Amino acid sequence: MLSEQKWMEDTIEKIREKMDWVSEKSRDKIPYTTVNGTHDDKSDGGKYALDDGINWWCNGFWGGMMWLMYHETGEEKYREIARNSEEKLDRCFAEYSGLHHDVGFMWMPTAVADYRLTGNQDSLRRGMHAANLLAGRFNANGNFIRAWNDQPDNDTRGWAIIDCMFNISLLYWAGEESGDPRFTRMAMAHADTAMRYFVRPDGSVRHIVEFDPETGEMVRDYGGQGYGQGSSWTRGQTWGLYGFAISYRHTGKQEYLDTAKRIAHYFIANIPEDGLIPVDFRQPHEPYWYDDTAAAIAAGGLLEIAAFVKEDERELYHRAAVKLLRALTDQHCCFDETNDCILQKCSGAYHSPEHEFPIIYGDYYFMEAMFKLKGGDVFLW
Ligand code: GLY
Repeated sequence: MLSEQKWMEDTIEKIREKMDWVSEKSRDKIPYTTVNGTHDDKSDGGKYALDDGINWWCNGFWGGMMWLMYHETGEEKYREIARNSEEKLDRCFAEYSGLHHDVGFMWMPTAVADYRLTGNQDSLRRGMHAANLLAGRFNANGNFIRAWNDQPDNDTRGWAIIDCMFNISLLYWAGEESGDPRFTRMAMAHADTAMRYFVRPDGSVRHIVEFDPETGEMVRDYGGQGYGQGSSWTRGQTWGLYGFAISYRHTGKQEYLDTAKRIAHYFIANIPEDGLIPVDFRQPHEPYWYDDTAAAIAAGGLLEIAAFVKEDERELYHRAAVKLLRALTDQHCCFDETNDCILQKCSGAYHSPEHEFPIIYGDYYFMEAMFKLKGGDVFLW
């Protein structure tokens, strides 16, 4: 078996080689997955591209990958491609009606990354615009950010989801950038609500919690994208694990780090022997589906926690992150030209018709974790 150092260097070299040609091939796209090995294009959506076109929640990750590569290599082409995808997202602001709480996932790795790395003033404006849209979703009855818009069969006015722990990084950034405490206050109020209602005593987390939108009282929870109510959707665990670590980074509030660690301990205890992560830790043995995105996000979150804990605790998180990343590189990664994506066995949800296919944010978080492991200072959240 290769030493950790050699494996890490080899993997980063493979990422650099693959991104060199994939970025050229997909330079005018905003990919989500691959079709017959080739990136699709979400920026190509219909006339009013509601949820699954230009407003698709994943449309920031391609730009984020390009900013990671720009930071890693200094090559201008990555900046140009990232900026191109950022500009395409302006259409979402113009149309407005398809937007949701995932403005954090969309504009943190694009506009805010651009502003942080280049000082671009248009990007600052975009980031603040997105942050104000997110702030507008805050419900003071219950202190939570509303997740999704109206759905035909569900009243979602009181729905909050664990994924939003990533979106609130946009509010932390806006608070730091503007000096206006409203943004940070809302982000922390949401994080405090999530700590109280989403994290179970065993360290696992719920996906969806419904609150009464008038009184703020908790109504019930839902299994969401996991196997069912009471189950443990793995990507949801990682949004919590990494998300609370981000909240700690922005605020220094110890309870957030403690919560991130609690979720991490639950996650680590459930990593299977082979290091590959299922869609839900409580899914049945048959059918058994993988979700590589959960492995990649968890690895990044574990490395984030490792950066904040004392020397003698660090090894636990570092070792688990490396186990996850090595399992991916050994068994589920494609570095050749047969597929434009790297991770091959990602799943959107347990009950979706499709499983185990490439998803762009799997690649984003995999790359981010590898660069973090190398000691890179890049941080897009
Ligand atoms: N944020 C949506 C998902 O994780 O699928």
